[in-house]
Amino acid sequence: MTAFQRIALRAATIFCLGLVNCLVFAAGLGIETATPVKSLTPPISLLDLMRASIEISADGIWAAEAADKLSDDEWLLADQDAVNLIAATSCISLLGTGNQDRIRAGNADWQSWIKDMRETALQIRTAARVRDQTRFAALGDHLQEICSGCHGKYRPEKPSDGILRYPFYPKRELVK
Ligand code: HEC
Repeated sequence: MTAFQRIALRAATIFCLGLVNCLVFAAGLGIETATPVKSLTPPISLLDLMRASIEISADGIWAAEAADKLSDDEWLLADQDAVNLIAATSCISLLGTGNQDRIRAGNADWQSWIKDMRETALQIRTAARVRDQTRFAALGDHLQEICSGCHGKYRPEKPSDGILRYPFYPKRELVK
Protein backbone atom coordinates (compact mmCIF):
# COMPACT_ATOMS: atom_id res chain seq x y z
CA MET A 1 0.00 0.00 0.00
CA THR A 2 1.42 3.36 -0.99
CA ALA A 3 1.40 6.33 1.38
CA PHE A 4 -1.34 7.88 -0.76
CA GLN A 5 -3.50 4.71 -0.55
CA ARG A 6 -3.07 4.64 3.25
CA ILE A 7 -4.26 8.24 3.55
CA ALA A 8 -7.20 7.55 1.23
CA LEU A 9 -8.18 4.46 3.29
CA ARG A 10 -8.01 6.43 6.54
CA ALA A 11 -10.13 9.20 5.06
CA ALA A 12 -12.70 6.66 3.85
CA THR A 13 -12.82 5.03 7.32
CA ILE A 14 -13.35 8.40 9.03
CA PHE A 15 -16.11 9.21 6.52
CA CYS A 16 -17.87 5.89 7.12
CA LEU A 17 -17.68 6.22 10.90
CA GLY A 18 -19.11 9.72 10.55
CA LEU A 19 -21.95 8.33 8.48
CA VAL A 20 -22.71 5.67 11.08
CA ASN A 21 -22.75 8.36 13.77
CA CYS A 22 -25.15 10.40 11.68
CA LEU A 23 -27.47 7.44 11.20
CA VAL A 24 -27.43 6.63 14.92
CA PHE A 25 -28.14 10.29 15.67
CA ALA A 26 -31.01 10.36 13.15
CA ALA A 27 -32.48 7.18 14.65
CA GLY A 28 -32.24 8.83 18.06
CA LEU A 29 -34.07 11.85 16.70
CA GLY A 30 -36.71 9.54 15.31
CA ILE A 31 -37.40 8.22 18.79
CA GLU A 32 -37.46 11.73 20.20
CA THR A 33 -39.97 13.03 17.65
CA ALA A 34 -42.26 10.11 18.41
CA THR A 35 -42.59 11.02 22.11
CA PRO A 36 -44.36 14.44 21.94
CA VAL A 37 -47.23 12.96 19.89
CA LYS A 38 -48.42 11.12 23.00
CA SER A 39 -48.15 14.24 25.13
CA LEU A 40 -50.65 16.04 22.85
CA THR A 41 -53.42 14.58 25.00
CA PRO A 42 -54.24 17.41 27.42
CA PRO A 43 -53.34 16.47 31.02
CA ILE A 44 -56.59 18.05 32.22
CA SER A 45 -60.20 16.90 32.10
CA LEU A 46 -63.10 18.10 29.98
CA LEU A 47 -64.59 19.56 33.17
CA ASP A 48 -61.41 21.60 33.81
CA LEU A 49 -61.55 22.98 30.28
CA MET A 50 -65.26 23.77 30.56
CA ARG A 51 -64.84 25.70 33.78
CA ALA A 52 -61.53 27.48 33.23
CA SER A 53 -61.38 28.00 29.50
CA ILE A 54 -64.74 27.61 27.75
CA GLU A 55 -66.98 29.29 30.33
CA ILE A 56 -64.68 32.26 30.97
CA SER A 57 -64.19 33.07 27.30
CA ALA A 58 -67.85 32.49 26.41
CA ASP A 59 -68.92 34.80 29.26
CA GLY A 60 -66.66 37.51 27.86
CA ILE A 61 -68.23 37.10 24.42
CA TRP A 62 -71.78 37.24 25.79
CA ALA A 63 -71.01 40.31 27.87
CA ALA A 64 -69.59 42.05 24.78
CA GLU A 65 -72.62 40.95 22.78
CA ALA A 66 -74.94 42.61 25.28
CA ALA A 67 -73.09 45.95 25.26
CA ASP A 68 -74.47 48.89 23.28
CA LYS A 69 -71.22 50.01 21.76
CA LEU A 70 -67.82 48.50 22.34
CA SER A 71 -64.66 50.55 22.82
CA ASP A 72 -61.40 49.70 21.02
CA ASP A 73 -60.17 47.85 24.10
CA GLU A 74 -63.43 45.92 24.45
CA TRP A 75 -63.21 44.74 20.83
CA LEU A 76 -59.65 43.61 21.52
CA LEU A 77 -60.83 41.68 24.58
CA ALA A 78 -63.59 40.09 22.48
CA ASP A 79 -60.86 38.99 20.07
CA GLN A 80 -58.89 37.56 23.01
CA ASP A 81 -61.94 35.64 24.24
CA ALA A 82 -62.53 34.21 20.76
CA VAL A 83 -58.90 33.06 20.52
CA ASN A 84 -59.17 31.38 23.93
CA LEU A 85 -62.39 29.68 22.89
CA ILE A 86 -60.81 28.40 19.68
CA ALA A 87 -57.84 27.05 21.65
CA ALA A 88 -60.01 25.41 24.31
CA THR A 89 -62.25 23.79 21.72
CA SER A 90 -59.23 22.43 19.86
CA CYS A 91 -57.97 21.10 23.17
CA ILE A 92 -61.28 19.33 23.82
CA SER A 93 -61.06 17.63 20.46
CA LEU A 94 -57.78 16.07 21.66
CA LEU A 95 -59.61 14.53 24.64
CA GLY A 96 -59.17 15.14 28.34
CA THR A 97 -58.30 12.70 31.07
CA GLY A 98 -61.71 12.55 32.80
CA ASN A 99 -63.37 9.11 33.02
CA GLN A 100 -66.04 9.69 30.39
CA ASP A 101 -64.00 11.82 27.99
CA ARG A 102 -62.73 9.04 25.81
CA ILE A 103 -66.13 7.41 25.33
CA ARG A 104 -68.02 10.60 24.47
CA ALA A 105 -65.38 11.86 22.06
CA GLY A 106 -66.03 8.93 19.74
CA ASN A 107 -69.70 9.90 19.16
CA ALA A 108 -70.68 11.64 15.90
CA ASP A 109 -73.01 14.21 17.53
CA TRP A 110 -70.32 15.07 20.10
CA GLN A 111 -67.84 15.71 17.34
CA SER A 112 -70.26 17.81 15.33
CA TRP A 113 -70.97 20.06 18.37
CA ILE A 114 -67.23 20.50 18.89
CA LYS A 115 -66.75 21.30 15.19
CA ASP A 116 -69.61 23.81 15.28
CA MET A 117 -68.19 25.44 18.41
CA ARG A 118 -64.75 25.80 16.85
CA GLU A 119 -66.11 27.23 13.59
CA THR A 120 -68.43 29.59 15.44
CA ALA A 121 -65.54 30.78 17.63
CA LEU A 122 -63.47 31.40 14.50
CA GLN A 123 -66.27 33.46 12.97
CA ILE A 124 -66.72 35.35 16.24
CA ARG A 125 -63.08 36.30 16.01
CA THR A 126 -63.52 37.57 12.47
CA ALA A 127 -66.59 39.58 13.49
CA ALA A 128 -64.62 41.07 16.40
CA ARG A 129 -61.77 42.03 14.11
CA VAL A 130 -64.01 43.83 11.63
CA ARG A 131 -66.15 45.12 14.51
CA ASP A 132 -69.41 43.85 13.10
CA GLN A 133 -71.63 44.08 16.19
CA THR A 134 -74.72 42.56 14.52
CA ARG A 135 -72.87 39.52 13.24
CA PHE A 136 -70.97 39.21 16.52
CA ALA A 137 -74.27 39.12 18.45
CA ALA A 138 -75.88 36.56 16.11
CA LEU A 139 -72.86 34.30 16.47
CA GLY A 140 -72.87 34.75 20.25
CA ASP A 141 -76.51 33.56 20.27
CA HIS A 142 -75.60 30.55 18.17
CA LEU A 143 -72.77 29.75 20.58
CA GLN A 144 -75.31 29.61 23.39
CA GLU A 145 -77.37 27.10 21.37
CA ILE A 146 -74.32 24.88 20.92
CA CYS A 147 -73.59 24.82 24.69
CA SER A 148 -77.23 24.01 25.50
CA GLY A 149 -77.49 21.37 22.78
CA CYS A 150 -74.53 19.37 23.99
CA HIS A 151 -75.29 19.91 27.67
CA GLY A 152 -78.84 18.68 27.09
CA LYS A 153 -77.52 15.33 26.03
CA TYR A 154 -74.15 14.88 27.70
CA ARG A 155 -73.85 17.01 30.81
CA PRO A 156 -74.77 15.05 33.92
CA GLU A 157 -77.01 16.64 36.55
CA LYS A 158 -74.07 16.82 38.90
CA PRO A 159 -70.54 17.57 37.67
CA SER A 160 -68.45 14.40 37.55
CA ASP A 161 -66.16 15.57 40.39
CA GLY A 162 -69.18 16.30 42.61
CA ILE A 163 -68.18 19.94 43.19
CA LEU A 164 -71.27 22.12 42.84
CA ARG A 165 -70.21 25.73 42.58
CA TYR A 166 -71.31 28.29 40.04
CA PRO A 167 -69.50 30.24 38.86
CA PHE A 168 -66.68 27.87 39.66
CA TYR A 169 -63.97 30.55 39.61
CA PRO A 170 -64.29 33.91 41.37
CA LYS A 171 -64.13 37.10 39.34
CA ARG A 172 -60.53 38.15 38.81
CA GLU A 173 -59.71 41.16 40.97
CA LEU A 174 -55.91 41.20 40.98
CA VAL A 175 -54.39 43.01 38.04
CA LYS A 176 -50.74 43.14 37.15
C1 HEC B 1 -69.60 18.80 22.98
C2 HEC B 1 -70.32 18.96 24.18
C3 HEC B 1 -70.27 20.24 24.97
C4 HEC B 1 -70.26 21.52 24.49
C5 HEC B 1 -70.34 21.99 23.05
C6 HEC B 1 -70.19 22.37 25.64
N1 HEC B 1 -70.12 21.63 26.79
FE1 HEC B 1 -69.92 22.36 28.68
N2 HEC B 1 -69.95 20.48 29.41
C7 HEC B 1 -70.08 19.33 28.67
C8 HEC B 1 -70.09 18.19 29.57
C9 HEC B 1 -70.21 16.73 29.17
C10 HEC B 1 -69.96 18.68 30.88
C11 HEC B 1 -69.91 17.88 32.18
C12 HEC B 1 -68.50 17.43 32.45
C13 HEC B 1 -68.35 16.63 33.71
O1 HEC B 1 -69.13 16.79 34.64
O2 HEC B 1 -67.37 15.87 33.74
C14 HEC B 1 -69.86 20.13 30.74
C15 HEC B 1 -69.71 20.98 31.81
C16 HEC B 1 -69.65 22.35 31.72
C17 HEC B 1 -69.44 23.23 32.85
C18 HEC B 1 -69.20 22.81 34.28
C19 HEC B 1 -70.46 22.94 35.08
C20 HEC B 1 -70.30 22.54 36.53
O3 HEC B 1 -71.27 21.94 37.00
O4 HEC B 1 -69.27 22.82 37.15
C21 HEC B 1 -69.47 24.52 32.35
C22 HEC B 1 -69.31 25.80 33.15
C23 HEC B 1 -69.70 24.42 30.93
N3 HEC B 1 -69.79 23.10 30.57
C24 HEC B 1 -69.80 25.51 30.09
C25 HEC B 1 -69.98 25.41 28.72
C26 HEC B 1 -70.18 26.54 27.84
C27 HEC B 1 -70.26 27.98 28.29
C28 HEC B 1 -70.29 26.03 26.58
C29 HEC B 1 -70.51 26.77 25.29
C30 HEC B 1 -69.73 27.94 25.01
C31 HEC B 1 -70.15 24.59 26.67
N4 HEC B 1 -69.98 24.25 27.98
C32 HEC B 1 -70.18 23.76 25.57
C33 HEC B 1 -70.18 19.25 27.31
C34 HEC B 1 -70.19 20.31 26.44
